[in-house]
Amino acid sequence: MKHLLSAADLTRAEAVHVLDTAAEMAATQSREIKKLPTLRGRTVVNLFFEDSTRTRISFETAAKRLSADVINFSAKGSSVSKGESLKDTALTLQAMGADAVVVRHQASGAPHLLARAGWLDAAVVNAGDGTHQHPTQALLDAFTLRRHLAGDPALGATSGVGADLDGLHVAIVGDVLHSRVARSNVALLTTLGAHVTLVAPPTLVPVGVETWPCEVSYDLDATLADGKPDAVMMLRVQRERMSSAGGGFFPSPLEYSRAYGLDARRLAVLPEHTIVMHPGPMNRGLEISAEAADSPRAVIVEQVANGVAVRMAVLYLLLTGQHDPQSARVPTTT
Ligand code: CP
Repeated sequence: MKHLLSAADLTRAEAVHVLDTAAEMAATQSREIKKLPTLRGRTVVNLFFEDSTRTRISFETAAKRLSADVINFSAKGSSVSKGESLKDTALTLQAMGADAVVVRHQASGAPHLLARAGWLDAAVVNAGDGTHQHPTQALLDAFTLRRHLAGDPALGATSGVGADLDGLHVAIVGDVLHSRVARSNVALLTTLGAHVTLVAPPTLVPVGVETWPCEVSYDLDATLADGKPDAVMMLRVQRERMSSAGGGFFPSPLEYSRAYGLDARRLAVLPEHTIVMHPGPMNRGLEISAEAADSPRAVIVEQVANGVAVRMAVLYLLLTGQHDPQSARVPTTT
């Protein structure tokens, strides 16, 4: 595995290997010396054609904690705004000696093109492409689920569901149509053994969803009360993607939050151990109320923190060639 383009490309053993490595990375972060020398002399480029707060900052933090040099490239303010192509941008990064390119792009498939066109020798990491994939988000979500619900071996806890996600029920709720987070999580969480239910209005469910390895429901109250999910993952309503052709129908904010928003009333029917997740950024008051977002069940800020350890693991494994589950040994000291 030279690149990380899609959560669907990961075998169960590879995904568990990334999560185990992330647990090692998280352990180093809780010690006094946070910085590892592992990627000294390597260059990681954050190539962002679309806005980001969490993903860009956590990749930068992850690379710096592994002692890599980091170049942040934002399309706004670059020669992309003068019409420079993806190919010429890639050739420029190649000339500058990039070892890894972390790319976010509004076009689904852009990271695949970068990885396969032969313009770059670097490892390509998909940081979110259109409505397609966001594999490191799914990995950090799986890491968070594992820590809370599946007996992460690094915490020495066992809940009886195993170190992967066998038997967990995760409800993913909201604008599935536009969500690369939903697509990535359905692929990864089911690979790890979880049962996933997608809950959405019929107009925000993608064509072909019946071929996905999950259930689909249009009734949030029934899923929460009868499905007793171990985790409820709320999705951002992506109104900015709804104007394009085939963009999905969004009734009204009030109707949407009444039918599909997570609020205090819906929190009250959940089992005591159920956690609330959201990839961010949140539309407070639309898909999630302030009470739900700030409740003790919410692990949303923890998801962000876990993103650093997971991205350290991904960069480390790709750039040191230790992605084979049989071959890795993670250095945990400087
Ligand atoms: N979850 C996520 O991708 O957030 P950002 O858009 O802020 O990176």
